[in-house]
Amino acid sequence: MDILFDEKNGVFKIDTEKTSYVMAIMDTEKLLGHAYYGKKISDVDVRYLLRTSENPFLPSVNGRDRGSVLDSFPFEFPGCNVGDYRESAVELEDGNGCNANFFTYRSHRIFAGKKPIKGLPATFGNESDSMTLEIDLEDKVLGVTATLSYSIFQGIDVIARSAAVTNHSKRSLFLTRIMSASLDMDCEDYRLLTLHGSWARERHMDYREIGYGKSSVGSVRGESSHQEHPFLGLVSGRAGQEQGEVYGFHFVYSGNFLAQVEKNQFDSLRVQMGIHPKNFRFELKPGEVFAAPEVIMVYSDRGLGGMTRNLHDLYREHLIRSPYRDRKRPILINNWEATYFDFNTEKLLDIAREAKKCGIEMLVMDDGWFGRRNDDNSSLGDWTVNVEKLPGGLKYLVDEVNRIGLKFGIWFEPEMISPESDLYRAHPDWAISIDGRTPCRMRNQYVLDITRKEVSDYVYECVAAVLRSANIEYVKWDMNRPLCDLASKGLGSANQGELSHRYVLAVYALQERLISEFPNLLLENCSGGGARFDPGMLYYSPQIWCSDDTDAIERLSIQEGTALLYPLSTIGAHVSDCPNHTVGRNTPFETRGHVALAGTFGYELDITKIPEADRQAIPGQVAMYHKYNDLVRRGDYYRIASYRENHFFDCYEVVSKDQKEAMIVFVQVLNRPNFRSRRIRLCGLDPKRNYRNEDTGEILCGDTLMNAGITVPAMWGDFCSKLIHLSAE
Ligand code: GLA
Repeated sequence: MDILFDEKNGVFKIDTEKTSYVMAIMDTEKLLGHAYYGKKISDVDVRYLLRTSENPFLPSVNGRDRGSVLDSFPFEFPGCNVGDYRESAVELEDGNGCNANFFTYRSHRIFAGKKPIKGLPATFGNESDSMTLEIDLEDKVLGVTATLSYSIFQGIDVIARSAAVTNHSKRSLFLTRIMSASLDMDCEDYRLLTLHGSWARERHMDYREIGYGKSSVGSVRGESSHQEHPFLGLVSGRAGQEQGEVYGFHFVYSGNFLAQVEKNQFDSLRVQMGIHPKNFRFELKPGEVFAAPEVIMVYSDRGLGGMTRNLHDLYREHLIRSPYRDRKRPILINNWEATYFDFNTEKLLDIAREAKKCGIEMLVMDDGWFGRRNDDNSSLGDWTVNVEKLPGGLKYLVDEVNRIGLKFGIWFEPEMISPESDLYRAHPDWAISIDGRTPCRMRNQYVLDITRKEVSDYVYECVAAVLRSANIEYVKWDMNRPLCDLASKGLGSANQGELSHRYVLAVYALQERLISEFPNLLLENCSGGGARFDPGMLYYSPQIWCSDDTDAIERLSIQEGTALLYPLSTIGAHVSDCPNHTVGRNTPFETRGHVALAGTFGYELDITKIPEADRQAIPGQVAMYHKYNDLVRRGDYYRIASYRENHFFDCYEVVSKDQKEAMIVFVQVLNRPNFRSRRIRLCGLDPKRNYRNEDTGEILCGDTLMNAGITVPAMWGDFCSKLIHLSAE
C-alpha cells in the first residue's frame, strides 16, 4: 500500500495491494478531478483520462464555454449551482438564501495511520497498518473548506473515504446536502446491485439496469431500514461470483442515507453516497466543522466474492472493537419465540435447566420483563423489573441462572416510549412529536427525543442501573419503529432539520457510554429484526440480529444478502421451532442448525416443549458449533450457489486463511424428481494440496475440487441439508 503525490503534475495516487485510485489537480483554478479507480496500474500521471485535451477543454482555455467544462469534468467533490448540473457533493445556504459553492484544491497531507471521526463510527488503523491522504479544498467566496479523507489498510483492497466541512466565515451557514463520497467514472456495462427488503425479508439482492438520469436507494426513516440498505454495487455485465469487475460502496452510518448513480449525457456516471438530504438542514456556526460519515469503497476484479472478502476482512480487523470480535460467542437461547410475553422466573429457569443439559451457554430474557408489559402496548420507558413475573427480582433470576451454569443476557428497547407508561405520563414532551399534531404510533409506541440531554441521560441510567444490579453479560438493544413527526423541543426553529442526524449521533453516544462503562458486555444490536444492520452499528456491537424471520429457507436469501457485505461472525442467527412462526414452514431440525451456523448460532425456541428428537439433536449441534466456529468466524467466505438464482439449492463455503480446512454447507431447498447429483465447484483451496472429505474419506486435490468439483447426491425430501468438511492432508 502506498499514497504518492506527483508534485510536478499535481497527481495523487492511492495504491492498495491490487487497486489504484488517481486524482489530479487541474488548470490554473486547481480543480480536483477524478482520473481512475480500478485494478492496480503502474503509471502515476494518467491525467489523459480526465479528457481535458478534448473539447470543451479546461476553464482557463475555454472560459467562453465554462459551463460545458463544468458540466462534464469528473469532479472529485462537485460544487453546486455554478455550472455543473449533475448532483453536487455539498449544498450550503449562505444565510441570504443563496445556495452555491465551488471547491478547489488548497493543500494536502499524507500520513501513516488514520484519524477517528468525532462522534461517529469509523474504521480504525494504526501507523503500521494504515495510511491516510487528506486533501483540503476551499471555496473562498463562502469562506468554507472541505477536507476529503482517504485511508487505506495493509493487505485489504478498500478505501475508506469521508469529508468534513468547516465554516471559516463570520456568519452561520446551513448545510443541506453532504455526500461523503462522490465518484465520477465512465459508465461501462454495469448493472446496479442493491439490497432491498421489508420486515422479515431483509437484504435481498436486486439488480437493475442503469438508465439515464438518477437511480437511487435511500432511507428517510431515521435508521438504515429494512427496506433499503446503505450499499450500492456496480457489477460489470461479465462479472459473476468469482470473476469480473465489481465496485462496492458501503456507508458506515445508521440513519438516513442516499446511495445514487447518475448517468449523464456523456454516459458518465456520478456515484454518490451520503446522509439523505431530505429533512437535513444543519447549521454550521462560525468555526464549526461538520464531519460526514465514512464510505467504504471497494473495487474487485474477482467478482462479488472479491468485494465480499475485502469487506469481511476490513470489518473484522478495522471496524469491530468489541473484545468479542475474536472470541467464540456463548451459544445463547432466547425466549422470544419460546414464550413471547408469557413467562415468569420459573419458566425461564425451566428453559435454563434444559438448555444447560444440552450444552447451551447463555439465557437471554427478551421483551416483557419490565413495567406492566404483558403485550406490546405498554411500558417502554419504565425499565423496572415486573416482580409479578419475576418474583424475587432480577438479581435472584440472574443468580439462579448463573447457578444452573448459564450466563445471562437481557433485552432493552431504550430509545422508545409507550403512550401507556409512567414515563409518558410524567414526560409526554419527551416523545418526538410536532406541536399540535398527534404523533403517528407504530407498534403502539413513540420515539424518545434522545437528542435532549435529560432524555438520553434518563435512558442511559435506566439501562446502566439494570446492568449494575446483576451479573448481566449480554444486551440485545432493540429499536422497533422508524422516526416520523420530526420536531425536537431541544432545537430552535432554524435547527429542526438537524434532528435526524443528531438522533443517530445520540444513539452512538449512548452505546459508546454503555460499552465504556461495561467493556466486557456482549452487545447485540437489533431493530425489528435487521432494520439497523449496518457498518455503523458494528463499531459498537460485534453482532446484529439479522431478521425476525428465523425460517431456514427464508434465511438463505436474507443471509446471502447480508453475508455479501458482513462477516458471518456478525450475523445473528438462531435455530427456532416449527412450524416457523413467520411463514408456517416445516424444515428439518438439522437444516435449521446448518443455516444458523452461518452466523452467531443460538436457539430461539421453548426447549422444554420441542419434539424429543429435536432436543436430542441439540448437543450434536452444539458440538458442531464448537468445532466450526473458529473457521466460520475467521475464514474466507465463498458463495457457491444461490437458491435465489437457481430455485433448487443453496451453497456456501468457508475456507480457513491458511487453506488447511474448509466447510461447505449445501441446502437442497426443493428436491427434483428423476434428477441427478448436483455438482458444485469449490473455491479458495490450495490447488496443490490434497484434501480429505471427513464424511466419505475420499481424498482429492485442491485443483480437482475447484475445477472439476464434487457431487452432492440428491437427498430425500425438501429443505434437506448437508455439511461437508475438508481437511488438508
Ligand atoms: C423485535 C426483535 C425481536 C424481539 C421483539 C420483542 O421484533 O427483532 O427479536 O426482540 O422485538 O418485542
